[in-house]
Amino acid sequence: MDSYLLTQNRDQINQQNSIHFLEEGKVLFFPEYFFREVAPDLMTETILDGSRKNISYDPSYKRMSAYKKESGLGSKLTHMMQGYADFSYQLIQATLPSYAPYLRWGRTSFRPAQIDGRLSSKRKDDRRLHVDSFSASPVHGLRILRVFCNINPNEEPRTWNLGEPFPQVLERFASQISPYNMFKARVLKLLKITKTLRSAYDHYMLHLHDKMKLDDGYQAQVQKVQVNFPARSTWIVFTDQVSHAALSGQHLLEQTFYLPVEHMLNPNSSPLRQWQKIRPEV
Ligand SMILES: [Fe+2]
Repeated sequence: MDSYLLTQNRDQINQQNSIHFLEEGKVLFFPEYFFREVAPDLMTETILDGSRKNISYDPSYKRMSAYKKESGLGSKLTHMMQGYADFSYQLIQATLPSYAPYLRWGRTSFRPAQIDGRLSSKRKDDRRLHVDSFSASPVHGLRILRVFCNINPNEEPRTWNLGEPFPQVLERFASQISPYNMFKARVLKLLKITKTLRSAYDHYMLHLHDKMKLDDGYQAQVQKVQVNFPARSTWIVFTDQVSHAALSGQHLLEQTFYLPVEHMLNPNSSPLRQWQKIRPEV
């Protein structure tokens, strides 16, 4: 398990190791550092409005979605979500300071529901190993950097599987993915299936995500390790690179950031640069 995690003490952070190992595909793990401003009455899945399993907050526009408006907990929720967005940014400033000026804000997410198997398809089942790619929201090569915090009040861990390194994933699946088609991408945009034009990179990453999840043999046989992130712990990971599966757990906060590849210490370790070596149109 140690080869998958880099354990850090919040008060004695080794910044050089952090950035190096994160970019190599390790998870930065803070076993005793966590977001504290959590109101106990928010720790219930009845706060969801039923449309989704996550409450989503946009820190740039201070807008929240998917929570039950009648709950009367809107302002408490906003306070928690904004607090977590600030907590995440400050942790990155302390741990990965060279990234901080270049980060773009993504969504803050609160996941108060237990992970379970009542899902409509394998493609949507995050209990299967995958790398992250967003079907409706192209990233155009930006890195997906996420800060997770297990805020479970009942000592329940968040349990993940971590799979093989990205170059091996790519080697296994890249040749199975059909070439990018700009015409199809334009149609998807026209039909508002994607918010912006799906780039070649987004096409290949989305199909990589799908190929991994849909392959039963791969899911069963690939080398993986189970990791329990305990209650009151935090971890940072490039989820577009690290093969991961969320098996169980309830009550999680997550902040997404996007980072341009050129602001990495070693851009060649990015999925973008690795795809460019085998698909010149990326
Ligand atoms: Fe994921």
